Amino acid sequence: MEIKNSFQMANSIKPLSLTPNFILPEDKRPQLAQISPLASIPIIDLNDHVTSSLLQKISQACEEYGFFQVINHGVSEELCEIVMTAVTQFFELSPKERAEFFTEDITKQVRLFNYYLKSEGQEKVTMWSEIEAFVEYAKEVDTLMHRLFRLISQGLGLDKDCLQKRMGDKPRLRAQANFYPPCPDPELTLGLAVHTDLNALTVLQQSAGVTGLQVIKDGKWVAVDPIPNAFVINLGDQIQVLSNGRFKSVHHRAVTNKTHPRVSLAMFYGPNTEDVIGPIEDLIDDEHPPVYRRYRYAEFLEKFYSQEGTRRMVKELFELPK
Ligand code: OGA
Ligand code: NI
Repeated sequence: MEIKNSFQMANSIKPLSLTPNFILPEDKRPQLAQISPLASIPIIDLNDHVTSSLLQKISQACEEYGFFQVINHGVSEELCEIVMTAVTQFFELSPKERAEFFTEDITKQVRLFNYYLKSEGQEKVTMWSEIEAFVEYAKEVDTLMHRLFRLISQGLGLDKDCLQKRMGDKPRLRAQANFYPPCPDPELTLGLAVHTDLNALTVLQQSAGVTGLQVIKDGKWVAVDPIPNAFVINLGDQIQVLSNGRFKSVHHRAVTNKTHPRVSLAMFYGPNTEDVIGPIEDLIDDEHPPVYRRYRYAEFLEKFYSQEGTRRMVKELFELPK
């Protein structure tokens, strides 16, 4: 497992009104009044025994939403709190203090951008104090990822190790903390643009009590409100391809609000660049011809980065003609 950290933030100063560079064209604005407060995504209790009804609940969530929340996920609550506090404190540093960390100079030992940490631990880590907790957190989330992969494989009617094997010998785990400062006009902008996750599976922890994440369901935006001690799980593009389109990597976005800063910590899990991804053979038959061609993950990443700044349509490029 390889761990990479990156920290994203919006503007580091708090403007009284939005400067033009934050204002979206009218048709891209969030239309917050239209968000349904009633709909919610499925909640899965991982303390439940693995029965066919649990697997059915998971596969239904993966087919219909591409999202679910998990409770009793096995990651220590204390650790969750420590990492969220650390990340929040980091974003509360003054812009000047924070600026020190934002370097892309890979020769710097202390850096938060594109920092790679190998799990063997041979690299000296002299980052800010909570990094040890962070490594511990990453280990526990890694265990949860494996567990979710088994459940999702079984939900597809496959052998429980099937999906995990497709992640290869060197799967990657990348951490990304997102900070959304209070925004003077949430109607005019977005915290995070509409996107699907390019990796295989994402485990997201969000600030308690602050809503912001939304997913599309039947053409409508649904808020994914934080539940205490829960993680939001969402399927990335690679699972959609591996499942031959049965399980969905769904569009989602983060909206802002006027009063509360919001932090989320996403852990992205996926294959390594040399791994080959394509629909799993056991899911293909006469009635279910392959929807996607096989590709090296590096090829997918290359297409992904070439579409920077657009509403990316990456997996579509790998679709086979019908
Ligand atoms: C992401 C993401 C949602 C959020 O980082 O890919 O979708 O609520 N984050 O921050
Ligand atoms: Ni995302």
